[in-house]
Amino acid sequence: MDVEAIRKDIPLYQQEARPTYLDSACQSLRPRPVVEAMNEYYYDFPACGERSVHRLATEVSIHLDEAREDVATFVGVLDPECIIFTKNATESMNLVAKGFPFRKGERVITTDMEHNSNHVPWVMLRERIGLERAVVPFSELEEGNLEPLKEELEKGARLVSMVHTNNVDGSTIPLKEVVELVHDHGALVMGDGCQTAPHNPLDLRDMDVDLYAWSMHKMLGPSGVGVLYGKREVLEQIEPLVTGGGAVSITSYDSATLLPIPEKFEAGLQNYAGIIGSGAAVRYLRKVGMEEVPEHEHRLNRVLTEELSGVEQLSRLGPEDPDRRGGIFSFNLKGMLPHDVAMIVDEIGGFLIRSGMHCVHPYFTSRGLEGCARASFYIYNDEEEMRKFAAAVRYLAENFAD
Ligand code: ALA
Repeated sequence: MDVEAIRKDIPLYQQEARPTYLDSACQSLRPRPVVEAMNEYYYDFPACGERSVHRLATEVSIHLDEAREDVATFVGVLDPECIIFTKNATESMNLVAKGFPFRKGERVITTDMEHNSNHVPWVMLRERIGLERAVVPFSELEEGNLEPLKEELEKGARLVSMVHTNNVDGSTIPLKEVVELVHDHGALVMGDGCQTAPHNPLDLRDMDVDLYAWSMHKMLGPSGVGVLYGKREVLEQIEPLVTGGGAVSITSYDSATLLPIPEKFEAGLQNYAGIIGSGAAVRYLRKVGMEEVPEHEHRLNRVLTEELSGVEQLSRLGPEDPDRRGGIFSFNLKGMLPHDVAMIVDEIGGFLIRSGMHCVHPYFTSRGLEGCARASFYIYNDEEEMRKFAAAVRYLAENFAD
């Protein structure tokens, strides 16, 4: 991977006294072609798509169709109409939770490492409609043990909704095998791909997953755009979260006829610049070569792991093998709060990491942990940054930790 060439496209890397950005699991940096694609919309054809028929509106609609096609192709989906644009992955998963035709007493199965976006909706549905929820250990699935999931499936389930790669330690479950097992038990699968789609080549068709949600802001795209993929026959069963203009073919004073997918889910004026920028983001990633991304991140994770080995005050989260932790290195320093670690590494060396519970509260609170410090990297980071960050963490361990 040509990190130097990528950096030339990233404005932050042109700053002289730039910080070292290690928070890409939260939000990635954006290359110029993505920002330029959005500016092109605002400068050249800043109109409303899919409604008016004048030339600027037509230009918007053409760009939106292209973006939808490019996003579909990026994840191995043949039918672009099965790609729904939302505000973020949280909205994508809420759309499913709130619109899926669940009946009282039906069961949903998740892992114990779900982000709040795949946790809170199920808690609320338990209160609202009596939906039951079972939780299986993520680490067992990650190690290839599907037995706990099988036991829960045998008790009955309508939907299995699981994080594909978790945002705490970066490890990944074998989703294709999960899908096969779940389908054998007559249920559907929704994958939370927020930490997978930016970092791994994906073929959702081959995986046979029924629904899959992710956000564009973690993969070089703009903030404010999420995606929901669904099989056509599954999306057709789901009620829209938001209704109104652009999502209906005709209405009368007492009826409304919804348009087919994807329009039925995309009511109201859309984030046109964001969707167009999302198309540019996946085109950029395809040019970089998604096959090269995991190896690059594993190499960085190996360097960081090696550099920090033997630091007694440091406890790392996740599997021992750095190749199983993707682009995430999470840790705690004995006697230090995660937020203090994050603030001090920024203060002393300009390292920007995230700290806290990373929106996965039950995982930490059930283990009596305050959270963790998390460094997460992407295609623009390099080994030198890992070594410098490791030196800063060592300094903290020696001077501030117990
Ligand atoms: N879910 C995002 C993260 O892990 C916000 O940082």
